[in-house]
Amino acid sequence: MFVLNTWYVAAWSAEVTEKPVRRVICKQPIVLYRTPDGAAVALADRCAHRAYPLSAGRTVGDSIECGYHGFAYGPDGACTRVPAQSAIPARARVRSYPIVEKDGWIWVWTGDVELADESLVPDTHWMADPEWATVTHTVLFECRHDLIHDNLLDLTHESFLHKTTVGDDYIYEHGITVEVDGRVVTADRLMPGVEAPPLYARTMATDGLYDRFHATEFHVPSYHVLHSGITGRGRPREEGYLIKVLNGITPVDEKTTWYYYAFSRNFAVDAEWATEELEAGLATVLREDADALREQEIGMQERPEGEHDVLIGQDAGVAKARRILSRLLAAEQQAGDRALGADRSGPASQATPVAVQS
Ligand code: FES
Ligand SMILES: [Fe+2]
Repeated sequence: MFVLNTWYVAAWSAEVTEKPVRRVICKQPIVLYRTPDGAAVALADRCAHRAYPLSAGRTVGDSIECGYHGFAYGPDGACTRVPAQSAIPARARVRSYPIVEKDGWIWVWTGDVELADESLVPDTHWMADPEWATVTHTVLFECRHDLIHDNLLDLTHESFLHKTTVGDDYIYEHGITVEVDGRVVTADRLMPGVEAPPLYARTMATDGLYDRFHATEFHVPSYHVLHSGITGRGRPREEGYLIKVLNGITPVDEKTTWYYYAFSRNFAVDAEWATEELEAGLATVLREDADALREQEIGMQERPEGEHDVLIGQDAGVAKARRILSRLLAAEQQAGDRALGADRSGPASQATPVAVQS
C-alpha cells in the first residue's frame, strides 16, 4: 500500500520539542521528541511493556518515559530503565527510526534501516536561504496520497479549481513535456506571453505579458518541488520572479495524508504585506485542493470495481509516476516476501514466543 523505503516529512522542526508529539506515518505510530542537546528522535509510539503510547509520557534527559508503568527508552529505542526491577528484559526495546533535520523539516525513514541514506533527502535549501522568503502551511487532507500526487502533476486543474488565485484558461491550453530520471518525474509547462496569475501579480508588481512556467518535479513517493514563476518574454527562467513550492506528502493511512507545504519566493523578500497576502491567498488555494480531493476520495470509494480513470495527454506525468510507484511497491513486496520466506524456513520459525521475560 505504501512505499516504506523513503524519507517522509514527519514534522516541522518547531513542532518537535522536549514534549513528545505523535505522528502516524504509513500506519506506523511514531513519537518524536528532542533531547537536551537538541537532537530530534523518532521512536515507535508503542511501549514494549503493554503497548501504551509513549507520546503520552514525558522526556527525562535523553530518554522518553512511558506514562503507564515508567519504562524508559533511549534514542536508540533500547529500554534504559524498568522501575519495578533492576534487570531489563532483552526484548524491552522499541523501534528507532532514522531521522534527518534539514531546512526546517524533520524527515523520517520508514523502511529498512540498512537502506536509509541521508543523501536521498531532497534539496529544500530555499526554506533556509535569506535570499528567499517562505510562507508555510500544514493541512491534513482527507484523501489517499495518490490523489495529491496526481493533483500536483496535472496543474490544468488550476484553470478551474483556483480561478481567483493562480488559475487562468491559458494553462490547459498549453501542453507539458515530461521527463523521467530514476525516481523523479518532471512535468514542465511553458506558457509564453501571458499575464501573471492574480495572486502573484501584486506582489510581483507586474503588469503586461510574460512567459509563465511551472515544472512539477515529483520525487516518488513522498515529495514534490514545483519550480514556478514568470520571466520576460523569451528570457531565461533564472532571470525572472521565481517561486519554489515544496510539498512533503506523508500518508497517515489509506484515506488520510499530511500535506507539509512551503512556498519560497525570490521577490518582495522583505515585504511583510506581501508575505501576509500570499499566506492568506495560498491558504485559499490549499483549502480548494483539500475540499476537491476530499470529494474525489468519496468518488473513488463510490466508483464500481472495474471502472478506471480516463487519462489524457495532460496526464502524461501522472501515468509515468504511477508506473514508478507501482514498481517500487512491487519491489518492496517481493523483498518482504523473500524475507518472510527466509524467516519461515529458518530455525527461528520453530520458536515459541516467550510471554514474560525478566
Ligand atoms: S505500558 Fe509502558 S511501562 Fe507499562
Ligand atoms: Fe491545486
